[in-house]
Amino acid sequence: MKITMIGSGYVGLVSGVCFAEFGHDVVCMDLNADKIEGLKKGVIPIFEPGLEEMTLDNVKAGRLTFTTDIKAAVASAEVVFIGVGTPPHPETGHADLKYVYAAARDIARSVEGFTVVVTKSTVPVGTGDEVERIIRETNPEADVAVVSNPEFLREGAAIKDFMIPNRIVVGIEDERARPVMTEVYRPLFINQSPLMFTTRRTSELIKYAANAFLAMKITYINEMADLCEAVGANVQEVARGIGLDNRIGTKFLHAGPGYGGSCFPKDTLALVKTAQDFGAPIRLIETTVEINDARKSKMTKKVIKALGGSVAGKTVAVLGLTFKPETDDMRDSPAITIIEELVEAGAAIRAFDPEGMENAKAVLPPITYCEGAYDTATGADAVVIVTEWNEFRGLDLKRIKAALKSPVLVDLRNIYRREEVARHGFSYSSIGRPSEDIAAG
Ligand SMILES: NC(=O)c1ccc[n+]([C@@H]2O[C@H](COP(=O)([O-])OP(=O)(O)OC[C@H]3O[C@@H](n4cnc5c(N)ncnc54)[C@H](O)[C@@H]3O)[C@@H](O)[C@H]2O)c1
Repeated sequence: MKITMIGSGYVGLVSGVCFAEFGHDVVCMDLNADKIEGLKKGVIPIFEPGLEEMTLDNVKAGRLTFTTDIKAAVASAEVVFIGVGTPPHPETGHADLKYVYAAARDIARSVEGFTVVVTKSTVPVGTGDEVERIIRETNPEADVAVVSNPEFLREGAAIKDFMIPNRIVVGIEDERARPVMTEVYRPLFINQSPLMFTTRRTSELIKYAANAFLAMKITYINEMADLCEAVGANVQEVARGIGLDNRIGTKFLHAGPGYGGSCFPKDTLALVKTAQDFGAPIRLIETTVEINDARKSKMTKKVIKALGGSVAGKTVAVLGLTFKPETDDMRDSPAITIIEELVEAGAAIRAFDPEGMENAKAVLPPITYCEGAYDTATGADAVVIVTEWNEFRGLDLKRIKAALKSPVLVDLRNIYRREEVARHGFSYSSIGRPSEDIAAG
């Protein structure tokens, strides 16, 4: 099939490359000329495991091209995906749909023959109706079926998630879209990934309902961690004890510094706003948003406490800046709030992240960027693990201790065992694990 992706970011590029891998003819289009020029030269604009190789393979095979020319890209396509950003509106917190609507207008002006227009961006209920209205208003001759097909991939595991999804959700209002979408995803259907057809509005809501549920699950275990600290219980064992119940499941039960990233914060907020607009407020998610916002500052306080109540004039070594490992994405990372607040409290920050430092420079206050964990720890008063990159899991604690001014380790991801750290003479704080507990793993 001939597929065009409008927007070549984390979702558009990964989806486009994977569709090409399925054997479709794919054009990835973006307004950002630098990004497209880079892609044409084989420069992948994001860090995503496996993406570079798969992109280069498919370009070589002639199934994948890049362009800024929307007209040609849309005119030749049977299916046009919209994969542009839907950031929160700075004033209202609603999903800002200006990029989606701009793409809809561009598509309307360029479309030729029957074309299925698919919104892959995460958009509030009713956006598909508006996309359809915009296309018909801009070009009454356009023959389109507007479909919702939300994306569930996770950054860091995006290719695997796209190629082996738990499910594919497709929302249609025009039956002509059904065989087209079935053909688009045929390679996955053969692999028995469930292809679920529903209405457009239901499909749009499924995406938000899924993300909000996962954000709530993380927030639940984070609050449970606070209770564990208060009562002297171990949150990792609580998580295991409840997670082994199939009705609950073990995933998304890792207590930490609060969820971040390009999706959960904005999607929970957008769902809250939509629900309020429709007079059906979702209190659970309203509360989830509040708790998660407050949690990041709680982490700052934990660091300050570990340093004896003040960080003024002290140096804090921060390991990990991205919102999770295996991505370079800094959007809404808990590290941002924690570092801003530590700087405000008078600390100097030394930091290292394996992939996120370029993006971090754009969003963090001035700090010192280092060349690895040991360099970061050099001369610092404490080490704080904010993101659980694999390379931070097996640190040589002897070397870290020797580099530090004082042996203080704050582990916001619970990747160390207290007994091991204590053996090396560290003062150690983690999340939801009592200080006397040495059996936790
Ligand atoms: N990042 C994720 O993990 C993830 C997962 C699932 C769903 N989503 C959703 O997918 C959507 C895209 O997210 P992302 O992380 O890929 O965003 P992104 O910011 O990485 O990429 C968006 C791209 O769209 C381009 N763009 C904007 N307007 C355009 C236009 N009119 N024409 C062509 N290109 C245009 C931008 O230049 C940018 O390259 C969002 O709605 C997001 O919520 C993201």
